[in-house]
Amino acid sequence: MESGRKVAFITGVARGQGRAHAVKLASRGMDIIGLDICEDIESMDYPNATEDDLRATVKAVEAAGGAIVAEKGDVRSYDDLRRVLDHGVERFGRVDVLLANAGIIRLSPGGDRDRTWTDVIDVNLTGVWRTIEVVLPAIRAGERGGSIVITSSVAGLKGGANDKAGGQAYTAAKRGLVGLMQVLANEYAGERIRVNTIHPTGVLSGMTLNPVMEELHAQAAKGEQNPISQMRNALPIDILRAEDIANAVAWLVSDEAAYITGIQLPLDAGFAVR
Ligand SMILES: NC(=O)c1ccc[n+]([C@@H]2O[C@H](COP(=O)([O-])OP(=O)(O)OC[C@H]3O[C@@H](n4cnc5c(N)ncnc54)[C@H](O)[C@@H]3O)[C@@H](O)[C@H]2O)c1
Repeated sequence: MESGRKVAFITGVARGQGRAHAVKLASRGMDIIGLDICEDIESMDYPNATEDDLRATVKAVEAAGGAIVAEKGDVRSYDDLRRVLDHGVERFGRVDVLLANAGIIRLSPGGDRDRTWTDVIDVNLTGVWRTIEVVLPAIRAGERGGSIVITSSVAGLKGGANDKAGGQAYTAAKRGLVGLMQVLANEYAGERIRVNTIHPTGVLSGMTLNPVMEELHAQAAKGEQNPISQMRNALPIDILRAEDIANAVAWLVSDEAAYITGIQLPLDAGFAVR
């Protein structure tokens, strides 16, 4: 049954930026449909979120005044995406906003390079496309326009040197998302469905708060060259908070940004301009 409140579908909602988006949009009067894998991916070198993390997101959204349907699910799986969408639409009756946010990375050496490449592309590029395949028809069905925000990265604006298959796949996927965004922005503009990419610099989240990243930061601090040593923001801030990204996205999906589509929005403390 529809309540008249807008509804946002968010992937990777259990922690980090996904949770921050859910809480921020709930505080702005939206209800949330979210999914998260809540399981590790073997080829990666840090853990994904857990079901406890997902429960914490539910509590935080409710505390912010929103209602939420949150379920375990993998963006690589049509069945998972359709199940969560169906449950959300049963509860809320509509979808207005899609944040294709779930993503993974591997920057440590070792592992099977081809497996790492395939998994990163499957989640970060194909998973975003599948998410849009499943959710976009629900947005179109409302005939009220809509907003899709795809989470790319500063890596999707400019590739840095990287010999790791995971880093190469990450950059390729994040850049690929820009092409996908441009095609969709053109295709659906007539229906007032806006499609944009965001390009965050480093953000405090499960992706960065883990032993592998801490080791890369320590190496960079000693003057060694690695993907982290190349990451320098212009503004005097080393790393952003998930809430910094959520604040900008809340504006991008709002009516205040009604005529913004097809853009690559850096949320990068001046990383790209340096
Ligand atoms: N943290 C950074 O420095 C940074 C910078 C630029 C862009 N990004 C991008 O921001 C997005 C959010 O990442 P974050 O920083 O919040 O990291 P995070 O690891 O805390 O959050 C990612 C979430 O996605 C979930 N997830 C992973 N694979 C999934 C799958 N197959 N299906 C469903 N859920 C899955 C994880 O469980 C996790 O909860 C990602 O797309 C990431 O590439 C991150």
